[in-house]
Amino acid sequence: MAVVHGLLRRSLSGASPLPSSLRGLLLASPQELGRRPASSDAAAAAEGDVADQLRAAREDVRHLLKTKPCHPILVRLGWHDAGTYDKNIAEWPRCGGANGSIRFGIELVHGANKGLMTALLLALPIKGKYKGVTYADMIQLASATAIEEAGGPKIPMIYGRVDTTSEEQCPPEGRLPAAGPPSPADHLREIFYRMGLCDQEIVALSGAHTLGRARPERSGWGERETKYTKNGPGTPGGQSWTPEWLKFDNSYFKEIKERQDEDLLVLPTDAVLFEDPSFKIYAEKYAEDQDAFFKDYAEAHAKLSNLGAKFDPPEITS
Ligand code: HEM
Repeated sequence: MAVVHGLLRRSLSGASPLPSSLRGLLLASPQELGRRPASSDAAAAAEGDVADQLRAAREDVRHLLKTKPCHPILVRLGWHDAGTYDKNIAEWPRCGGANGSIRFGIELVHGANKGLMTALLLALPIKGKYKGVTYADMIQLASATAIEEAGGPKIPMIYGRVDTTSEEQCPPEGRLPAAGPPSPADHLREIFYRMGLCDQEIVALSGAHTLGRARPERSGWGERETKYTKNGPGTPGGQSWTPEWLKFDNSYFKEIKERQDEDLLVLPTDAVLFEDPSFKIYAEKYAEDQDAFFKDYAEAHAKLSNLGAKFDPPEITS
């Protein structure tokens, strides 16, 4: 109930009214919120069943992506659920991470999450069809599938994440990175090292900005529109990092390195990847070698998707 109360009570700027189908979904009982039978034969059978449901949910996400160019925002949703992880906190779910807590209104209204209601409204109806798939898994499944469907590498995902069940379990605001901090390299290290990630992973994961746009009305970054965004696809507007911002490739690194095109976005935290001596080693490599980028990206994305996750039953591969 806290889910729906959280969402309905808070005024989410830019959010459309909840459709009735979604309202029903959000009212799911705590038992349905990611709980599956514990050990025993029944659990083994349920695990098989869950694997089938995960496969079916992935097909639904693929279908969604064919009808709606929402790859970028689904990736951002997955990143923002997982990226609150703090490796210095042992207790779950206080450590944050990939536990589905972003679906609660109290977290969704964090400044960094502006606009992500749209992504939830796309992912949750699919989750509603598959009771064995947790919210946390659904969010990560949608993100990995979006990368793959945009032409990116296959992400070696595992599933079985347990969900948080109330807004009291949401992380505090401020755990995600800012785009224009005074010292971008120090800031990125502070945030990503807290998640247990290293320089190479920071650079590889930043390559996700090959997809999508920044919108002034959401993050305060980017132009209102550019020649690459004024006609969509999807809702027109915003500023992208790459010309073909629905295609996952290494063009982000090439564009950031060259900085020739004023219509393309370079955040301070993007620019620093070619300025900091340690980041630069990887950024140069990825600009030259797409295969190397894909390999490192796939591993880093999978690691990100597991941050802070508690798996029950033990990990299901798909
Ligand atoms: C390195 C630190 C990062 C910073 C400071 C940052 C910042 C931002 C900002 C300001 C936006 C624009 C949001 C908007 O206006 O709607 C954005 C969009 C985006 N970010 Fe990041 N980000 C970072 C890392 C990441 C990572 C690690 C991923 C995924 C692995 C990611 C994926 C995306 C995607 C796909 C979008 C486009 C969303 C859309 O088009 O709706 N970002 N990011």
